[in-house]
Amino acid sequence: TTFKVGYLIGSLAKESINRKLSKALIRLAPEHLSFTEIPIKDLPLYSYDYDADFPPVARAFKDAIASVDAVLFITPEYNRSIPGALKNAIDWASRPYGQNSFTRKPSAVIGTSPGAIGTAVGQQHLRSVLSFCNSPQMNAPEAYIQFKPGLITDEGEVTNESTAEFLRSYMAAFHQFIVRVYTALPRET
Ligand code: FNR
Repeated sequence: TTFKVGYLIGSLAKESINRKLSKALIRLAPEHLSFTEIPIKDLPLYSYDYDADFPPVARAFKDAIASVDAVLFITPEYNRSIPGALKNAIDWASRPYGQNSFTRKPSAVIGTSPGAIGTAVGQQHLRSVLSFCNSPQMNAPEAYIQFKPGLITDEGEVTNESTAEFLRSYMAAFHQFIVRVYTALPRET
């Protein structure tokens, strides 16, 4: 069986290093995972005033999450937390009340920054939010990637073999995690 993974990139920057990381992860992932980006950049700022009638862009966003088997968050750390754009997207997905898109949706988090702690603090915040949203999360392995210039090319090629091997094993573990979640809890379709 192939599992569909939707990935959310926490950065809107054109030269985002987390976008480069996403390309690397897709290249290194096991063949039984397929990938679609779930874009967050066109979502307006969330308010519960929208709950009665979500705009098309927000419906499309929730439909995109519903159509995948698992979600992968690839995000920078901004001010020791997650970027506002990503939090906004998660808030949209979590509503209207009773229609939380993350319930029973397996997830994993990963990120890269030029600093040595490699998004560790931001990832802890994201894990806390995803716990509240009732997403079964892959707890281990964790992946804090320090981005040194040239580590990943624009095409997503990892230039350091030990990092490539680590990212390959991370994606293999995510695949196994998704298999385990759906073995315990069959898909509803
Ligand atoms: C940062 N950066 C950053 N880095 C980090 O390791 N911890 C942090 O708390 C922050 N805070 C922060 C806040 C803001 C507003 C910006 C713009 C940047 C640096 C950040 O890691 C760097 O810009 C990366 O390039 C961000 O990843 P993307 O957006 O290129 O994928």
